[in-house]
Order: sequence, then C-alpha cells, then structure tokens
Amino acid sequence: SLEAETKSIVAQFEYTDEDVNKGVLEFLRQMAEGLEKDGTSLSQIPTYVTAVPNGTEKGLYMAVDLGGTNFRVCSIKLNGNTTFNLAYSKVAIPKELMVAKTAQELFAFLALEIQKFLQKHHGDQFEQHVRRRLTMSSPDGYRDENAFRMGFTFSFPVKQIGINKGTLIRWTKGFDIPDAVGKDVCALLQAEIDKLHLPVKVAALVNDTVGTLMARSYTSPGKHGTMLGAIFGTGTNGAYVEKLSKIKKPLEGEYDQSTGEMVINTEWGSFDNQLNVLPNTPWDDALDKASPNPGIQMYEKRVSGMFLGEILRLVVIDLLKNPNVSFFKDENSSSNDWVSTTTIAETSDLYKQWGLDTSIMSVAAADNTPELSTLRQALESTLHVYAPAHDDAQAFKAIANAIGRRAARLSAVAIAAIVLQSGKLDDPAFQDEPIDIGVDGSLVEHYPYFRDMIYEGLRIVDGIGEEGAKRIRIGIAKDGSGVGAALIALVAAGMEKNSS
Ligand code: BG6
Ligand code: GLC
Repeated sequence: SLEAETKSIVAQFEYTDEDVNKGVLEFLRQMAEGLEKDGTSLSQIPTYVTAVPNGTEKGLYMAVDLGGTNFRVCSIKLNGNTTFNLAYSKVAIPKELMVAKTAQELFAFLALEIQKFLQKHHGDQFEQHVRRRLTMSSPDGYRDENAFRMGFTFSFPVKQIGINKGTLIRWTKGFDIPDAVGKDVCALLQAEIDKLHLPVKVAALVNDTVGTLMARSYTSPGKHGTMLGAIFGTGTNGAYVEKLSKIKKPLEGEYDQSTGEMVINTEWGSFDNQLNVLPNTPWDDALDKASPNPGIQMYEKRVSGMFLGEILRLVVIDLLKNPNVSFFKDENSSSNDWVSTTTIAETSDLYKQWGLDTSIMSVAAADNTPELSTLRQALESTLHVYAPAHDDAQAFKAIANAIGRRAARLSAVAIAAIVLQSGKLDDPAFQDEPIDIGVDGSLVEHYPYFRDMIYEGLRIVDGIGEEGAKRIRIGIAKDGSGVGAALIALVAAGMEKNSS
C-alpha cells in the first residue's frame, strides 16, 4: 500500500543519532587531512584573511556577488558603528551563461550589470568619470584614481593566490564552463570591466562563506567575533577561523601572522566524496550519476537547495511507476470530498531533470493542518493535477520532510565538527560568551524548522550535548557576502596604501 511504501522510503532517509556522531568524527578526520595536504576531499583552502572585523570599519565600497542562482551588485557604506547602508540590484543568472562556451560570455554579462548599477545608483560619479576620461590624451589606458574599490564574492572553489587573485579549481552547482577552470577569476572580471571603461577596480576576492563570516562579525561583534560563516542555499559550504599552528600545508601567499589565526574555506560541499559515512539511497546515487559532476560535491548533493527537490522528484517518480501503489491515480478517490482525477502527464516537468523546485518542500513542511489544503493547492499547480487526494499529499509531505530532516542533521555534522575542532566549548575565555555562527542562503532562510533541526542534531553530539548546544548561537547574516566583500576590499585598500 502507499502507506507501507512511504514508511519504507522515509526509513531510508533516517539519519540516526549514531550516524550523526560517526559523521562528526569522520568530518574532523577529513578536516585534519585537508589541513595537511592538497587534493583531499575537504579542500580546506587558506584564504590569507587573518582577522575578522570588529564593527569599527568605515568607508564606501562596491561589491558584486556571483552566487549559484543570482548575481548581485551593491555599494555599501560602512558606518563604523556596526551598521551599514546598502544599495543593490539583483538579477537571475541566465541559465545559458552557466554552461557558456567561454568564461568571457559570463563575465561580460556581469560587467554590463555593474555598468547599469553605476548609472542608476552613482550616476553623477559615473558621468564625471566618463567626462574626465574623454579629456585624456590616451583614454584607453586611463586609470581613474577615484575608481570604486570592489570586493568580488565568487561562490565557487578558488585557490587563493593573493587578496585579489585566485584561480578556479572546479565549477559546482550546475555551472560548467570548462575554459574558466585554472584561470584567475578576478582578472577575467577586470578585463570585461575595462572593456566598458568603468571606474571600478576589483580589489578583493572572497568566497561567499568568507563574506558571510566577515559580515556577521562586523554586525554582531562580541569579544571574540564570529567563528564560522556558513551557506545553506543553492549550495552549501563553510569558512571558519583556524589556528595557524594547525595549518600544516605550506602557505604561499603573504599574510599577517600576528593574530595566529587564518580563515579557512573548507569547501565542505565535497566532504566525504568517497562515501565513507555519507548516506547513499538509490535516489542519491541516481542524482549523482545524472549530474554534470558525478562523484564530487557528495555532501552538498544531500544537503543543499539545488539538490533536495531533485532527490524528492526521483522518489516521486519511482512511486508513480510502482504498479503496487496508488499514488496520484484516478482510483485514489477516497472517503473525503477530494477526488484526484488526473494522473500526472508524462510531458510534465516532473519527468525532467531538475523539474521539481525545492521550494515545494517548504510548503510541505509548513502545512501542519489536518487537511493539508495549502500543500494540496501547491501540488495542484506544480504538478498540474486536479485536486490531489489527501493520502497523496500526506505521502508527499512525509517523504519531503524526511529528505529535509536528513539534510538538517547532516548540516549539524559539519557545524558540530567545526565547533569541536575550535576547542571553544572548553576554553575559559568563552565561558561567558556565545560561540557565534553566521548563516545565509535560501534553505536556512526559507525552509521551516531547518535551524531547529540543526540544533536537535547538535544536542546529541558527544562533546556538545544539551549544554554545549545552548552556547552555540546560529544567526542569519543577511546580505552577508556583499558586506563581507566590502570589508575585505577595505582591508585591501589598506594594503595598497601601505605598499605605496
Ligand atoms: C546570498 C549571498 O545572500 O546567499 C550569496 O549574498 C550567497 O553570496 C547566497 O551565495 C546563497 O544563497 P542562495 O540560496 O542564493 O544560493
Ligand atoms: C558551492 C561552492 C562553494 C560555495 C557554496 C555556497 O559549494 O563550491 O564555494 O561557498 O556552493 O554558495
């Protein structure tokens, strides 16, 4: 029956307390491995950022933010009292540019968006620049002294070489432009900005997790600042503050050693690519095999927004094809008034890869009414079926929730491991201050109970427990990475001054 089949599917997504604890130990092991050498599954990328802000930083900066789904352009005025003012514009990244032939096509699009933003929000300054440039004897080589310093948040794995220099290691989250791999993404962006003669200098390059960490630290400074910035959105990743003494692999760039610490971009999306401890249902396996990057980002493929809807879609299709259960079939009309008269058409998006948006999982999780009327309405419009039966919606909800709960508990694994690695729970200096973590991304922002389920996971971790979990403060860092990129651009501006 549908009920029995649903139960068995839900059981396959169960991620027990014991699994969580095993996961934490393996995460700690892979963290240490990544700090020792290159080429491990947790990349543990040194960022050469050695301090987090304390809220007193000041100045006007620009930032652009290429996430997984959107491109944002902003200008940020840091007021120096933990507050900021922000103007921004946001566009969805056209799908065809994510898989363009050349990186140049993508970066040209970004430069055009920057131009539009300048014209709209900083029109006077832009006009002045254009006029000044035209009075020059060789306008093409003209560099504007007053150019905006811009931080570039680039939410993909990059090997950082300098504060505004870094080469793309690999694409993730469905992007696939082979020609960009190995190239300096700052140089690619600056080249397109220069073609349009914009008064903008790409001064700093950061991962979105590093930006989130910086921004959270700026807005909620405690004595010790924030220790982890994490994204649970289209993709998932975290950057944390590590002791220099624990970074065993060689550090090539220049950095300030005085703090004894450095921010590490874990690239935890690729935690346990080898599947030592990650759960692996037939649907996880099918998703991976059909993805553009099989065998990598295995943790991300079980946790983040881009993938959860796809796992659910694959389960739903299996259920629809199962001759022994009645799921979205006409004969499913039940004791209540709702009669499902339609089977899902073979031409429906549901039968296409990525054809089910993860947002329906939020609707399922939020609908706690006995009739499930909101979810049934959403299913009606999403799957183009007429009046889905209560039983069908109930099965859908149970499966969606199981996938979401597993994702949250897996998220707890990464957070718990990093908290334990820091030793802060046992550090006397932290006894009267929360251990602060900044998070951002559509999943943690919009999926109901996601944070609650993470805490539930943290509480059962050996070495954290009820008491430890209470001391961990997970807070949203809204617009995090834009502000964070501005903060790093500020650091970069300081470095420019010192070296001139
Ligand atoms: C945004 C940040 O708020 O969240 C981006 O500014 C980040 O840098 C993004 O990549 C992650 O969320 P999503 O859901 O857009 O992938
Ligand atoms: C992917 C990227 C990573 C980014 C994360 C969140 O995992 O590889 O760099 O931080 O998505 O956007």
